[in-house]
Amino acid sequence: MSGFLSRVGSHLCRAGCWVWRRRCRFAGAALILLLAWAGYLYYDYRRDEPQAFYENPVMQFKYGSTGGDRLAGIPVGIWNGLPKLCRKYFPGEGWQSLGFIYEDGMSRPIGTSLRRSLGFERIFLNCAACHVGTYRAEPSDKPVVVVGMPANHLELGKLEKSLTDCALDESFNPWQVIQAAEDSGAKYSLFDRLVLQYVVVPAMRELLIFARFRFRFLDNEPDSGPGRFDTFNPAKALLNWPLDLVPRREMIGIVDFPSVWNQSQREGMWLHWDGNNNSVEERNRSAAFGTGAVPTTLDTKSLSVIADWLRTQAKPPPWPFPIDPVRAARGKPLYETYCSACHGMSGKDFIGARVGKVEPIAHIRTDPCRLDNYTHALAAEQGNLYSGFPDLRFRHFRKTDGYANMPLDGIWLRGPYLHNGSVPTLRDLLEPAAKRPAFFYRGYDVIDREKVGFLSNLPSEKGVPFFRYETRCIENCAAEPPAPSPPADNVCVPGKWAGNSNAGHEGKEYGTDLPPEDKDAIVEYLKTF
Ligand code: HEC
Ligand code: HEC
Repeated sequence: MSGFLSRVGSHLCRAGCWVWRRRCRFAGAALILLLAWAGYLYYDYRRDEPQAFYENPVMQFKYGSTGGDRLAGIPVGIWNGLPKLCRKYFPGEGWQSLGFIYEDGMSRPIGTSLRRSLGFERIFLNCAACHVGTYRAEPSDKPVVVVGMPANHLELGKLEKSLTDCALDESFNPWQVIQAAEDSGAKYSLFDRLVLQYVVVPAMRELLIFARFRFRFLDNEPDSGPGRFDTFNPAKALLNWPLDLVPRREMIGIVDFPSVWNQSQREGMWLHWDGNNNSVEERNRSAAFGTGAVPTTLDTKSLSVIADWLRTQAKPPPWPFPIDPVRAARGKPLYETYCSACHGMSGKDFIGARVGKVEPIAHIRTDPCRLDNYTHALAAEQGNLYSGFPDLRFRHFRKTDGYANMPLDGIWLRGPYLHNGSVPTLRDLLEPAAKRPAFFYRGYDVIDREKVGFLSNLPSEKGVPFFRYETRCIENCAAEPPAPSPPADNVCVPGKWAGNSNAGHEGKEYGTDLPPEDKDAIVEYLKTF
């Protein structure tokens, strides 16, 4: 009996051990798999791989990263899904409707970078968003993309509004956002979905609401429209200035996007529209700040490729139409007499006694808002940034009392003109302010071959309206006291049209008193720039 029992006992024991051993093995295998998975996730999460084009600086400028995407990058699927999710806040079809330019063969627009970081492929803006534009010779032509010219279509004001309105909409919840991303072709694992649901989408919503609050300065300004945005209010916003409390004259800082060609020839010139910085390298780095890149996130390799290219190779294309040689020859000495001291000898030779220096506002008398917007306090605060990174601290910002005399290279692609983009063509700029158009339309890229600039009298193209730029109040002005125009004391007066004045840069010295044939000749000569 006892033998039988001990046999049964030993069988049971063996079976138990067998089960136990199987379980052990299973648990061991599961543990190894789990560790491998965790290891992969850790590796994937820590991957930091930008899509780079170091051999091709033009591509790097158009599609490379500044590093801002490390912080603010939007997962590709969500980027693609947002315009559909928030159709009512996106003015037309997709990102194009905000003025982004797509090229054949690229699935994302010019001015965006792509980086694998924090476990996702992420998209964000780079320099080219604001510094690449297009032109057409005829309305039926395919637009020619020009790298380094002002982004004449991009509507950053609308972009901010569309995105933040979208974040405030009830449809901006994890489930619908993920759905929209998957509808646009994204494929997510269960883990991705959990991260998107519990981390990414809520964080994105928080950040967009935060941006909406910080960018409330836009409520005090006229609409920027395409090709313009505020330069230094975003810096104040990021530094968390109490923007409602700053003096009213300092509230408006809208400018036209500038061109960025020929940077080595600009070394040492006091530039930015108000001439507040004389270092090319710092102007680039402060620009990178505008794409969300700070010292801890800055992609220094990419930025150095971009900066080298801007310094040495980035040039404007020549005027693509015939130039009347006789008229241009007549314009040359007139230009040299009236303009070259402030703007350089030509589009290639920037020698001139006052080039790269600041023309006092009392003299130039253009709209004073952008000048008043950049303050001593901001210059001081920029100097204090990055104290932990002595090499990266800004040392060249200063407060000025006017606007910079800048070179006019590629001026035919830089319209509308003046720092606020208030004068549609070069020929208009040579008229006194009272004779310049009181309103016009921005956003068209067909060249005005006669007056030079873009055609600006069409309210729409194929049913899509252009932005109507009003330099002052035009209709029913009794209800809305207009900002004085020309700005009376060279002090910015807030109001619906503040920052939009087309006054200034007029009088004998600026060529506006010349006979019409002389003005035509100067415009013809400027086509050679
Ligand atoms: C969000 C739009 C935007 C982005 C992105 C942007 N810029 Fe700019 N950039 C501007 C505006 C606006 C100005 C004019 C600033 C002013 O004077 O008010 C400017 C001015 C400049 C200037 C000085 C031009 C001059 O001669 O006065 C340079 C150089 C420049 N940007 C380079 C860059 C580089 C390099 C990058 C990328 C690292 C970049 N920008 C990204 C909008 C942008
Ligand atoms: C005393 C210096 C001075 C003289 C002389 C002068 N300008 Fe200017 N010019 C400026 C300044 C400063 C600005 C920027 C003003 C602003 O944006 O508010 C400017 C702006 C411009 C712009 C717009 C640039 C852009 O990117 O939008 C053009 C074009 C221009 N000037 C052409 C001329 C021509 C042509 C002449 C001669 C007939 C001339 N200027 C004479 C100082 C001068």
